[in-house]
Amino acid sequence: MNIVVLREQQEGEARVALMPESVKKLIGLGATVRVESGAGLNAARTDDDYREAGAEVSTDREALLTSTDVLAVVNRPGPNDFARLKTGAVVIGFLRPLDEPAALIPAVDRGITTFSVELIPRITRAQAMDALSSMATVAGYKAVLIGAAHIPRMFPLLMTAAGTVPPARVLVLGAGVAGLQAIATARRLGAVVEGYDVRAAAGEQVRSLGATFLQVDLGGIKTEDAGGYAVELSEEAMNRGRALIAEHAKLADVVITTAQVPGRRAPLLITEEAVEGMKRGSVIIDLAGATGGNCALSQPDVMVERDGVTILAPTNLPATVPVHASQLYSRNLTSFLSLLIKDGQLRIEMKDDVVGPSCVTHNGEVVNERVSGMMQANVG
Ligand code: NAI
Repeated sequence: MNIVVLREQQEGEARVALMPESVKKLIGLGATVRVESGAGLNAARTDDDYREAGAEVSTDREALLTSTDVLAVVNRPGPNDFARLKTGAVVIGFLRPLDEPAALIPAVDRGITTFSVELIPRITRAQAMDALSSMATVAGYKAVLIGAAHIPRMFPLLMTAAGTVPPARVLVLGAGVAGLQAIATARRLGAVVEGYDVRAAAGEQVRSLGATFLQVDLGGIKTEDAGGYAVELSEEAMNRGRALIAEHAKLADVVITTAQVPGRRAPLLITEEAVEGMKRGSVIIDLAGATGGNCALSQPDVMVERDGVTILAPTNLPATVPVHASQLYSRNLTSFLSLLIKDGQLRIEMKDDVVGPSCVTHNGEVVNERVSGMMQANVG
């Protein structure tokens, strides 16, 4: 069974799907691993590191693709790569099935089995495979550093002979994995931090990190689904949240937004008027830029200025911390792959409560109902 790792093709991508330490583990499970030359360089791993771990390194991308049983990727392969894979090959990575379902049609046509790490259920058994949490952790951390580097002031409270410097104020919207990591990082740098989320359970977590939780009275409506994810709220409930956010954003030096509702456009939390009410020199880092943004003025990967307020919406912060992001991701993938390997052979058990729900396409069909519904709506 051949596991293949290629150089990622997406612009700005610096992560690699499997690090050498994971290659060793997979070989221990009876697989062979082939790596495209240079695949790990941006994550500080050389071809020799991979060879030492037991991988075969090749410059022939085409031959690697045609010999693939399992292709481990960070980002979804392009149509040309799908076209070279054999029928029955497996692809695993961030495939964006809920955001761009139609892009997986080549996998259906070619009879390729795709597993999307975004669909791995967040159950206890699959915690070690939770790539979304790994990447959100990196993004939340990095967003704070970008914010700190961007504002024209310091983060901590300093008492000097020249007087006192007040601490920076940071507002974090969405207190899931990325938001909580942003809160923890901003606190470590000495900022005064406020957090906001529609899920009541987030309040305790925000407070446990030494931040204040902003609570809005939503009249007891349901804000989360059975899986613990936020649901889309009514316009009235959203407006109550926006008013509270606008009031607190006025005082903030850095606003970090992380609010997402899986498979939907990101909720709009900061209106244009709210931006206009903010201080000169303040910055908004919108981590929901790839799904429409939490701020009305966000443009993915473009720096926007409005009345002295900067709005940044970086769409791939994990790629800016490639060593640790790759390390975490590689471990997540290896845990998942260990479910597919039995005695060195590929064995796909669709009944498994992690494998089945993570699968998007198999045997020429879209097996995930939600993705299949979206594809039909797109095509029709
Ligand atoms: P996410 O990336 O889907 O969303 C980020 C945050 O935005 C969430 O906390 C969500 O409640 C919040 N949000 C959505 N709409 C909002 C709005 N209109 N206003 C304000 N905030 C809004 O979420 P993430 O970080 O992936 O985590 C989702 C849930 O899954 C959380 O409850 C988290 O604790 C839980 N989780 C469980 C894990 C496990 O048990 N293995 C692992 C990771 C997360």
